Amino acid sequence: MNDITLDDLASLPRPDHLRELFATDPGRAERYVTAAGDLRIDWSKASIDDPTLDVLLALAESSGVEARRDAMFAGDHINVTEDRAVGHAALRMPAGSSFEVDGENVVPDVHEVLDAMGAFADRIRSDESITHVVNIGIGGSDLGPAMAYRAMRAFRHDRIRCSFVSNIGGDDIASVLADCDPASTLFVVASKTFGTIETLTNARTARTWLIDALGEAAVADHFVAVSTNAERVAEFGIDTGNMFGFWDWVGGRYSVDSAIGLSLMIAIGPVGFREFLGGFHVIDEHFRTAPLRENAPVLMALLGVWYANGLGHDTKAVLPYANDLARFPAYLQQLDMESNGKSVDLDGHRVTHDTGPIIWGEPGTNGQHAFYQLIHQGTRIIPCDFIGFAKGNHSYQEHHDLLMANLFAQSEALAFGRSNDAEPHRNFEGDRPNTVILAERLTPSVLGQLIALYEHVVHVQGTIWGVDSYDQWGVELGKELANQITPELTGEAKPDDHDSATNALISWYRTHR
Ligand code: F6P
Repeated sequence: MNDITLDDLASLPRPDHLRELFATDPGRAERYVTAAGDLRIDWSKASIDDPTLDVLLALAESSGVEARRDAMFAGDHINVTEDRAVGHAALRMPAGSSFEVDGENVVPDVHEVLDAMGAFADRIRSDESITHVVNIGIGGSDLGPAMAYRAMRAFRHDRIRCSFVSNIGGDDIASVLADCDPASTLFVVASKTFGTIETLTNARTARTWLIDALGEAAVADHFVAVSTNAERVAEFGIDTGNMFGFWDWVGGRYSVDSAIGLSLMIAIGPVGFREFLGGFHVIDEHFRTAPLRENAPVLMALLGVWYANGLGHDTKAVLPYANDLARFPAYLQQLDMESNGKSVDLDGHRVTHDTGPIIWGEPGTNGQHAFYQLIHQGTRIIPCDFIGFAKGNHSYQEHHDLLMANLFAQSEALAFGRSNDAEPHRNFEGDRPNTVILAERLTPSVLGQLIALYEHVVHVQGTIWGVDSYDQWGVELGKELANQITPELTGEAKPDDHDSATNALISWYRTHR
């Protein structure tokens, strides 16, 4: 076969309707299931057939998926625009193993920080004085721990609760502080750069609030920092002895398994956190070693590429059938859209194909009563990932059976539909692709496995699309303009250099603020 390119995908024949694919291939339901760690990934209801799959696997080969995967695990600087290694896999490697970044094995450093976090978490968990941990961060320094804290509801310490403050809007910090007692609150200021305006503003407000109640000396016992930038942590007024570090080779959206997960570790304990990391590592090893045809992240990535570039689907819904995973779609939005929402390739040329999809979703069954109408009968095709578990993390079996019945029903209804020629409004066309990811139970390990699965999907897709999945220059212009506009709103500077519409917005705000 000649080298396949992305541009070839749109002209490939479309697979038959899923009804046909199942009718003509009795083995499909077994063959199109892939196991990875504790995850059972059923992609039999994906819009794909064997010939298309062969083409996609050839595309993976010709795009250098294996070489780029190996380069990541070798610590090469695959984040080219920032000239950095991409080392999140090192964060979950067992002690005694090796991951080299710039000629140095970083695994011992990783475990040194994990040990320090573990000692600190144990102290907080056993010392009765702290009952509320407030993580102040944004983006990767918020979404990971906030999502995982919620997901791990059943594994949390029963005395300590965590809150998460991220938004610069004062209502976020105001509502959390209103619910805090200064004497029993620990603030974790989480920022890779320690230069993010939202986090620093929220942290300053929290610091003032604490000092007003308990005096300056209390900061040492009630503030810790998580960052790669010790200098800025010290400048802010947190003793670097109370700082947990990580490294520039960990991307923000890939950092929940670094010290950024400190609040999660306090909640689920160091043992639970190590299980979480162990889950990531299982999938890392699967991704690193499984042949492409049996490699879950590769297969899921190829499906996504096929949907985007072959079939022209713009979005993907992630639909967890576990309310504890309510924040998982939001987490994946950053992971995927900040990674692959790019339109120039690694050589700086404009790409000629679509790249990252729009990711969205809500837990089932809530979404069923909101937007599933469009997924079933709308004019757009929305590929869906369903996620579910054999057992719920609660004792209400009736609820769980109903929940899972709904998941299976949605998957079936979308794929096969139900014809009704007499009443078109009751006609379900079907052929709406979906993947069903199942595991026994949502444990720390399984959560780590799910996250790592999607991380590697994003990596493979970024490779095929030829983009740098590990930078995020697209967030910079808005930040720069916000910095310019802030003094213009308060009257310290004159509105300058904007378009007429933006000038009008600024002037309206100045009149009404
Ligand atoms: O603005 C985007 C971003 O840089 C994300 O990539 C990152 O996760 C977030 O901001 C927070 O950054 P930091 O951890 O440095 O505060």
